[in-house]
Order: sequence, then C-alpha cells, then structure tokens
Amino acid sequence: MPTVTLSTSKPTTARADVLILGIRGEDDKGDLADTLDVLGFTGEKGQTMRFASAGAVQARVVIAIALPTEPTAEELRRAAAKGIRQVKGAATVAIALHPAGVDEVEAIAEGVALGAYRFDAYKTPKDDATSRVELTSAVILTPFARQSTATKAIERAATVAAAVNVTRDWVNTPPGDKRPADFAAAITAHVDDAGVSDAVKVTVWDEKRLAKERCGGIVGVGQGSDSPPRLVTLAYEPAGAVTHLALVGKGITFDSGGLSIKPGASMQTMKLDMAGAAAVVATTVAIARLGLPIRVTAFACIAENMPSGRATRPGDVLRMRSGATVEVHNTDAEGRLVLADGLALAAEAKPDRIVDVATLTGACMVALGQHTSGILGNDEAFGDSVHAASKAAGESMWPLPITEEMKAAVTSSAIADLRQHNPKPYGGALFAAAFLREFVGDVPWAHLDIAGPAFNEGSAVDYTPAGGTGTGVRTLVRLASDLAATR
Ligand code: BES
Ligand code: ZN
Ligand code: ZN
Repeated sequence: MPTVTLSTSKPTTARADVLILGIRGEDDKGDLADTLDVLGFTGEKGQTMRFASAGAVQARVVIAIALPTEPTAEELRRAAAKGIRQVKGAATVAIALHPAGVDEVEAIAEGVALGAYRFDAYKTPKDDATSRVELTSAVILTPFARQSTATKAIERAATVAAAVNVTRDWVNTPPGDKRPADFAAAITAHVDDAGVSDAVKVTVWDEKRLAKERCGGIVGVGQGSDSPPRLVTLAYEPAGAVTHLALVGKGITFDSGGLSIKPGASMQTMKLDMAGAAAVVATTVAIARLGLPIRVTAFACIAENMPSGRATRPGDVLRMRSGATVEVHNTDAEGRLVLADGLALAAEAKPDRIVDVATLTGACMVALGQHTSGILGNDEAFGDSVHAASKAAGESMWPLPITEEMKAAVTSSAIADLRQHNPKPYGGALFAAAFLREFVGDVPWAHLDIAGPAFNEGSAVDYTPAGGTGTGVRTLVRLASDLAATR
C-alpha cells in the first residue's frame, strides 16, 4: 500500500512521476485544454485519459479524470481509485482532485489505498521493468494539508482501508490454505501484527471446547470436515466505553454444501463464505486501532462445510447453544446454524446491540442483485442507523422485512423446536433472518446478508477489485463511530 501524505503544492508543480488530475467541466482544463481536446476528452462522467505531459506540468505522465462540478465523497473515492489503478511502473503519484473539505480528503485517501490493492501472493513474480517499480508514495494536493484534522483523516482512511484489504486477502486465500485452524491462527497473528494485542483479547475454542460449550450448530456444520471447527472471540474493552456492540460473522472457509452438495459451478467461488467473519474481525481491529470509546465483542464462527461419513445429514436434529433444537433439512443452509451459536453467545454477553455479517443466501442476490447487501433485523430504528452508516461509508445496502409468515415457517418442524430450511421456495433471505432472530433474545439486532457484494466475479471497477471486496468493514467502522458519538 503506498504511503499517503498531504501537500499544498499546485498540480502543475507537484513533484511526482504521475499526476492524477480531476477535471470539473470545460473551464477546468487549463493549459491542458488543447491536449485533452485532441484526445477526445469530453468530460463525460467516469472518463479517464492517460498521456505524457510533455512538460505542461512537472509530472511526466498525467491521468485526467472527469469529475462533476461538486463531486461527493463517494465520487472522489471512486475517482482516486480509478486513477491509481491506471498507474503502472511509477513510484510516486500526486493527486489533484480538488477536495471541498476534510471528509473529501479522507475519501480520496481511502480510494487510493483501496484502489492500489493487489492479491498477487500466488503469482510467480515477473521480472520486467514495469513490475520492478512499485507505487510507494501518493501525495494528495489540498489546501487543507496544514490542518491537523486533515492529517487525522488520512490516518483514519489508512486504518479503515487496511481493514478492508486484510478482509480481501483472507477471502481471496484459496480454501485449502485457510481451513478453520489456519483461519483462526491468521486472525490471532493479525491482531499481533496490527499492534493491538494489548487492547484486543483473542480467545479460540477448538472442537472439543465447542462441544463442551454446547455449540451444536458450529459442531454440526464442522463435523463432516477433516479440519474441525473453531470459534474465535475478540474482546476490545476500552476504559470509558459508552456502549457495547457485539459482532458475529459467518466463517465457512469452504462451502461445498455438505451432503446437500452444490453443483460444481456454484461451488467455484465458495471460498468467499468466510467473508462475514473476516469483516467483523478486521472491523474490531480497526476500531481498536482508532481507539473508539466503544466496547466490541466479535465472534467469528468458523467451520468447513464438507460431505463425509461423519457429516450432518438432512433429517438430523441439532441442539444449539441456546438450548433450542433444530431439524436440518438442507446441509447447504449451514450459515444460519453456525451463526445461531455465535448470536446466542453474543446475546449472553448482554451487549446494547448486535450486528451479524454473513454471505448467507443466494435469495438475497435474487432480491437485491450482486452489489447490494440486505439489512434485516428486529429493531427498525437500529436497522435505519446501519443503513445510514452504509450510505455515509459508500456501501450499497437496502432493508428487507422479516414477515409474519416466516415466523410460522421457522417454527413448523414436526419433531424439533425449529426448522432450518424454508419449506417454500420464496423469501429465502427473509426466512434465514427469521431463523436467526430466534437466537438474539431481545437485544436490538441487525443482520447483513452480504452474499452478493462480498465477492466480485467480474473485473475490477473503481475501488472494487476482482475477487474479495471487503464489504461491510467500512459500514461497521462508521456505525461504531456513530454509536461512540451518540451512545
Ligand atoms: N454460502 C451460501 C450462500 C451464497 C450463495 C453466498 C452464493 C454467496 C453466493 C449459503 O450457505 C447457501 O448455500 N445458501 C443456500 C440456502 C438454501 C439451501 C436454503 C442458497 O442460497 O441457495
Ligand atoms: Zn451453503
Ligand atoms: Zn454458505
């Protein structure tokens, strides 16, 4: 990740290999007007042009980006990332996107760090001239450079972007290299590496402890795999905390479907199925690094969902941490089973609020598409706060209801307290949330179904890379700072 700093230099004289220059309309082209006109730069939204500056500015290469007259923070976040992704073979870049205030500076800094993300751990390094040069420094040009609030803003951006990027790394890691014990170890190592091991206490329960603690959901899902399940708990308890937030994440390191096995094509991306757990862990570390005055307890419910002679069968009944029994109908609906135990443990800690994050249902993608997460829950006001946080953070989310009929469906098992899987093929995201609701008691709770946005099957767009996106982190950090400010 390049180091991001601030400077009051002018775009024309900024010392860098590349200048990323935002152009707000016809009158903003300045000395570059002729060049931009010949290149066919019309200023249409999202347009970019990369060309040699031929001495028109100090930097040797210019990347011009069309901006609206008064760009929003999100538009600047995207523009910065779009520009950064076009930088090749350069070590230093200056960014002139004309931020209107400190929030816009922060968005640009986020865009830089998110747009510069690469996952090349599994690529054999190439030894050509372009690959030998790495982007090490990005300077944001802004009149606010001398304000301490601007420096704070870019530090905050770096912390949040690092959290998004580690989530992406974990999601992108091949499933054979992140089996439950590996993922749990990676989480512990990350807390140390991030320098927060004094502030964040990590506890790992192995399969024996999980059984002893009556976590029948996590044990039931994990028992088909040769690599047994884990529950990782992170506790951040700063002095003077104004509220207690519990986070719960779905951490299926690979979802084959279990005995209700998925068709091959649907299995291809199922390393993504731990994106919720990755997001809540990374968020907790970011909150600790930011020193937000809010207590956070995060539960990463980690298992590998595999078919075998030991696997849970359709028809089996599991006794969950809450004491409720659940009749399993489809072992591919495993997320709700591991989350149920995580949510029950979260509720036992008596927090003020719970948020769970999960790549839970294909049905949510049918409802909202691939780029919007569902917000469901038991408290409309809290759901609204989460929605507001997502808007401020620039992540697309939308509320879905938990309808009355779903309550009846969840309690319709002939032999157990609850039924795991919707008897009807409609409203799968709603049914799953109705099931989860049974485990949160009366704590205000929001459920984020990130099945669509967690993984980008297409190619990179703006700050969203191909593969793991790190969705959820920015919203949760924003929610935590909102809660810290309003209690
Ligand atoms: N992990 C999947 C959901 C998913 C699908 C996430 C596609 C991301 C992309 C989940 O465990 C699952 O398999 N859900 C089933 C539930 C069904 C069996 C009730 C689904 O959505 O089809
Ligand atoms: Zn599944
Ligand atoms: Zn799953």
